[in-house]
Amino acid sequence: MKDFAGKLAVITGGGTGMGRALAQQLVAEGCDVAICDVIEENMEKTIEICQAEAPQGIKITAHQCDVSKEEDVNRFRDDVLKQHQRDHINLLFNNAGIASLTSFINGPRDEWERTFNVCWNGVYFCARAFMPLLVASDEGHIINTSSVNGFWASVGPSSTHTAYSAAKFAVKGFSEALINDLRINAPHVKVSVVMPGHIGTSIIINSSKIMGRGDVHELDAEEIDSIRKRLESEGADINDISDDNEIRAMIQERAENFRDNAPMSAENAAAQMLQGVKDERWRILLGKDAEVLDRLIRADPETAYDSSFMERLKAETEWGLGD
Ligand SMILES: NC(=O)c1ccc[n+]([C@@H]2O[C@H](COP(=O)([O-])OP(=O)(O)OC[C@H]3O[C@@H](n4cnc5c(N)ncnc54)[C@H](O)[C@@H]3O)[C@@H](O)[C@H]2O)c1
Repeated sequence: MKDFAGKLAVITGGGTGMGRALAQQLVAEGCDVAICDVIEENMEKTIEICQAEAPQGIKITAHQCDVSKEEDVNRFRDDVLKQHQRDHINLLFNNAGIASLTSFINGPRDEWERTFNVCWNGVYFCARAFMPLLVASDEGHIINTSSVNGFWASVGPSSTHTAYSAAKFAVKGFSEALINDLRINAPHVKVSVVMPGHIGTSIIINSSKIMGRGDVHELDAEEIDSIRKRLESEGADINDISDDNEIRAMIQERAENFRDNAPMSAENAAAQMLQGVKDERWRILLGKDAEVLDRLIRADPETAYDSSFMERLKAETEWGLGD
């Protein structure tokens, strides 16, 4: 697909971050866009920004939809076709996701499954719902956002990361398997898998809200206790902190730091994704950290979860998550 003008793109998780940046850049190129999200006010902001920047006649619509629920996704699809008065779409960005460091061994099962279901079922249900509409187009492309956690099931030795990593491995495997399926059965439709490293977005802040924990100042005593345990296991010196509000402030600071001090911005990430689509690349690594991780793991997969691996990673990147 060499240009996006006159096309229709569907973007899941368009409320903030890479989804919003994709919407902005696509409308600027003359593409109609439909976004969905579970956080209404963020979607409204995306629509406002896009409408202010969009060329005349470009249509952008917002749809409340939880991608982990198939009935929501099917309703989203029907609303998109109706509101855009089309019988096909050209681009599907399976971008919605939430992050969680919950443990499979002793973490709450509902948080584990919520993370897995958004990150995997969200991609699966949207692919099921929208694939016939991509096939019905002259030119289609499905872009599934995995992560470096789609090939490295860790953020560092002190954090657990099973639900997110399992889902992102599934997204990567599904996307790669689609390459041949599409070549055989719908060669005018392409697929890309996106594997971002650390991108500066509000994913930690949004995930806390979506998990029902609200903002960090609303974290209850039990949640603070489990955060204390995690911080201790990460080696943080928190013995002197008796006030839970200080822990809340620390968590808020980490989430803001993740957003504000990343090696790559959401805008830059979106631009690289769109260029990857135009260049028909099936494999889109985002950021130097992602490229270094990919190379180090291929060179010596057996050591990927050893402390020596972290030393090699840190020697080449500013990786500061989960160690
Ligand atoms: N930021 C990073 O460092 C990073 C790294 C690797 C992969 N990713 C992936 O990139 C994608 C985009 O994330 P981002 O970093 O832009 O974060 P983000 O929080 O800004 O964007 C994700 C969006 O998805 C929405 N969302 C969450 N659950 C949803 C659901 N059930 N239904 C519909 N929408 C839902 C959120 O409200 C949010 O607007 C995600 O899949 C994420 O896992 C991000």
